[in-house]
Amino acid sequence: MERLTGTSATGGVLERYRDRLPVTDDTPMLSLGEGGTPLVSSRRLIERIGCKDLYFKLEMCNPTSSFKDRGMVLAVAKAAEANAQAVLCASTGNTSASAAAYAAHSGLDAFVLVPHGRIAGGKLAQAVAHGARVLAVRGNFDDALAIARRVSEKHPVFSLVNSVNPHRIEGQKTAAFEIVDDLGEAPDLLFIPVGNAGNITAYWRGFVEYYQAERASRKPRLIGWQAAGAAPIVRGEPVDDPQTVATAIRIGNPASWESAVAARDESGGEINAVTDDEILDAYHLLAEEEGIFCEPASAACVAGLLKYAARPEALEGPESLRDQTIVCVITGHGLKDPETALATETEATEVDADLAAVESAMGLS
Ligand code: F0G
Repeated sequence: MERLTGTSATGGVLERYRDRLPVTDDTPMLSLGEGGTPLVSSRRLIERIGCKDLYFKLEMCNPTSSFKDRGMVLAVAKAAEANAQAVLCASTGNTSASAAAYAAHSGLDAFVLVPHGRIAGGKLAQAVAHGARVLAVRGNFDDALAIARRVSEKHPVFSLVNSVNPHRIEGQKTAAFEIVDDLGEAPDLLFIPVGNAGNITAYWRGFVEYYQAERASRKPRLIGWQAAGAAPIVRGEPVDDPQTVATAIRIGNPASWESAVAARDESGGEINAVTDDEILDAYHLLAEEEGIFCEPASAACVAGLLKYAARPEALEGPESLRDQTIVCVITGHGLKDPETALATETEATEVDADLAAVESAMGLS
């Protein structure tokens, strides 16, 4: 009887984009069902933006609820292929959750370095649940990444699976392929949050490759967004003590800085900053008006879109958004960061287990 692998139905990105990835006959075809994420049409926000089409690429629908799975499946498969004993990463949370899951899936050990006290509870829970060895570094993400790089240099049996690992970027570029495959063309504009700057690098690579392969007749302008308190690329210099409610992008010295600037410039795009208040406003708007509950870092690109759409040139003239197709990349799920949701939303109203009490609380009596 034919053995069902459990991954054949969805394929996963290694299977689906094998021809465009460094997959060999010796690469284990790992998959937790990553990729193939929905491209959802905006129903309400689009009215505020005034563009032709607005879509959300729901990368929070990946197996560990963030976009990291696309690159991690390849990085872990290549680590297994190279007989690594363990994978190692520094992370603001999502990379560690993904590394832990794929390491568990492939039978490798995982060691993750996270900034002490600065990672959202859901992400820590994921790393712990998958059996990763979690080291809470008394420092920020940039400190943790510098140490992780040195550990893997000194001890090569630990495969570093941060986005400085080229396989991460290769796997992540598949999200750009999917957008073109779904739309039948590249969008005009892609709005994306920027932290360590690997993802904007990966999207650009994906869009360029598909353009060169004539799968798309154009390339989008990439419009990246950092948090104002953690905006080294916008400021043009590293930030020693980055601060933002969007802990996923609380990064002062991005590893992929140069390639992000190249992606920005080659695409004719921009990298700008949004404040924490703007991020939280967009976070609530997405949840309340679109039904999309993402984490604060993901909302940064929607905050950016609202800011961009308010510019005079976005309203009228040749740069107007009226004829533009826009995609926002929703990178991670809101459930990863319940602390932020509960700190800022109106909490539950406690009532007696009684019809009249419930009616009264609902304003029905
Ligand atoms: N959105 C989310 C939810 C993230 O977790 C990250 C990065 C980004 C956006 C920014 O992407 O780094 O490629 O520019 N998270 C990393 C981590 C740093 O460790 O999980 P980037």
